[in-house]
Amino acid sequence: MTKQYLIEQAKEGMKQAYAPYSGFRVGAALLTGDGSVYLGCNIENASYGAAVCAERTAIFKAVSDGKREFEAIAVVCSNGTPAWPCGICLQVMAEFCPDIQIYLEGEQEVQVYSLQDLLPNAFRLSAE
Ligand code: THU
Repeated sequence: MTKQYLIEQAKEGMKQAYAPYSGFRVGAALLTGDGSVYLGCNIENASYGAAVCAERTAIFKAVSDGKREFEAIAVVCSNGTPAWPCGICLQVMAEFCPDIQIYLEGEQEVQVYSLQDLLPNAFRLSAE
C-alpha cells in the first residue's frame, strides 16, 4: 500500500467530518498490522470539549474492533497545510502504537514522521 493511497483514504475519512464550530475538517486513515484501513474524522460538539479528533476516531474504531497492531496513520485537513496531530492524539498513539509512522500531505510529496519525531518523550507509566 502506498503512502499516497493512505492519504487518499484519509481524504475519504474527511468527507464525514462534523466540524460546524471550527470549520476545520480533518480526516485520518489508519493502516493496521493485518492490512485493514480504518477511517476517522473529527466530530465536534456544542460543548466544545466533547470534540474528538480524526486520529482518535480512527484509532478507537480499530481498537474497539480488536486491532492492536498499527503500521501507519495518514492525516489530512481542509486548509491545505500539513495536519499535525495534536498532543492528545500523539499520546494515544504512544499507548497503542509507539512505532507508528505518520503521513502528512506535503506540497510535493507525502511527509513521513515517526511518533518518536513528534513526541520524543511520551508519558508511560512504566517510564521511570
Ligand atoms: N483536530 C483533529 O481532528 N486532529 C488533530 O490532531 C488536531 C485537531 C480537530 C479537532 C477540532 O474538531 C478541530 O480540529 C479544530 O481544533
